[in-house]
Amino acid sequence: MEKKKIIIIGCGRVAVKHVKAIKKLSQVCELKALVDVSEDAPAKVLESAKYDPSDVKVYNDYKQAIDEISPDIVAVTVPSGLHYQIAGYALEHGCNLLLEKPMTMSSGESREIYELSEQKGLKIAMGHIYRYFPLVGILREDIKNGVFGKVVCGDISVRWGHGDDYYSSAAWRGTWRSDGGALMNQTIHAIDLLVWLMGSKPVEATSMLSKKVRNIEAEDLGMAVLRMDDGALASITGTTATSDKEHGAQFSVYCEDGTVSLGLYKGKPRLDIRNGKGKKRNLRYIVKQIKLHGISSLTSALNPHHGIYKDFLEALENGRQPVADAMSGYSSVDTLMGIYRSAREGRPVELPLKEDFSSVDMTGFFEKNS
Ligand SMILES: NC(=O)c1ccc[n+]([C@@H]2O[C@H](COP(=O)([O-])OP(=O)(O)OC[C@H]3O[C@@H](n4cnc5c(N)ncnc54)[C@H](O)[C@@H]3O)[C@@H](O)[C@H]2O)c1
Repeated sequence: MEKKKIIIIGCGRVAVKHVKAIKKLSQVCELKALVDVSEDAPAKVLESAKYDPSDVKVYNDYKQAIDEISPDIVAVTVPSGLHYQIAGYALEHGCNLLLEKPMTMSSGESREIYELSEQKGLKIAMGHIYRYFPLVGILREDIKNGVFGKVVCGDISVRWGHGDDYYSSAAWRGTWRSDGGALMNQTIHAIDLLVWLMGSKPVEATSMLSKKVRNIEAEDLGMAVLRMDDGALASITGTTATSDKEHGAQFSVYCEDGTVSLGLYKGKPRLDIRNGKGKKRNLRYIVKQIKLHGISSLTSALNPHHGIYKDFLEALENGRQPVADAMSGYSSVDTLMGIYRSAREGRPVELPLKEDFSSVDMTGFFEKNS
């Protein structure tokens, strides 16, 4: 099998995780180029990932890199406001995409990218890291197969504190145009996971946004309720206004005959799976995970990007969709835009959105509502 050629566009914080994942999978893929508008960024990423720079070309123009290398996979790790234009160019030029979240900044643009990938017969793997955590896939199957009975409701609480130093580290952070706030940046993976685990589709969003602590344009706190197409409800809390020493994310799905709770707290996983009688079922699922995917898969939460690349390379080889596919990118942005629109209009909003809504449409939201 020929090694898949990969280029990475955008050499900042998350790109290091991509390079480390590619290095671990060097039997089946190779990093051909890094692209960044900042001259010293590519070298820094290679150094941080301890990657041999000798075979990696460096570009400052993504179009030139795509045209010259014709990569199998383009990894898009630029600020979110640039995803749409780069993803579109790469798809038009025959490349599959590993696209960081959020897919784009608007529901219409995300739908376009999804449809373009379908039309071109190309695949997109989204950077929705939570889908790649251990046990998640097995639990999803069991929820889908009714092991816990009907899904009643779900909730997520993401407390991903970021100080003003994080927001001032790059001009795009916390802006409506290029990033969005705590829901759009830090909570979107969790929303994707909750909807995926519940196995139903959001049909209505109601929300409120707040700016409590951080000096940014968008929200540092958001709460929302989703009504799902099977009548289940999902509640969402996402904030970056809490301490940056205490990152935590909690996901629970409550069913008529059991409960599944997963979480991360300060980098450590948390698990509480119970049957209808309240009996813990954690061990049963850990053993199943080891039997199916090996003991090393239990630590995969430490580098979920490795899971994304491994799955994507297999998906390309076998002609199947990746675990977090193009549809997951589009639908999570559509849900997010419904949440934003509901806050702006002060009313529940029907999903999927019938008209395009962009995070840029939120410009001035807090000024008007203060
Ligand atoms: N899945 C995850 O766990 C995860 C984690 C962090 C960030 N992200 C996403 O990854 C993306 C990047 O985030 P980050 O924190 O690494 O950002 P960053 O600011 O640290 O890095 C972005 C890089 O892109 C470069 N860049 C800007 N414009 C460019 C252009 N036109 N061409 C080439 N390079 C360009 C910048 O110079 C910078 O080096 C965002 O969309 C973010 O939401 C995902």
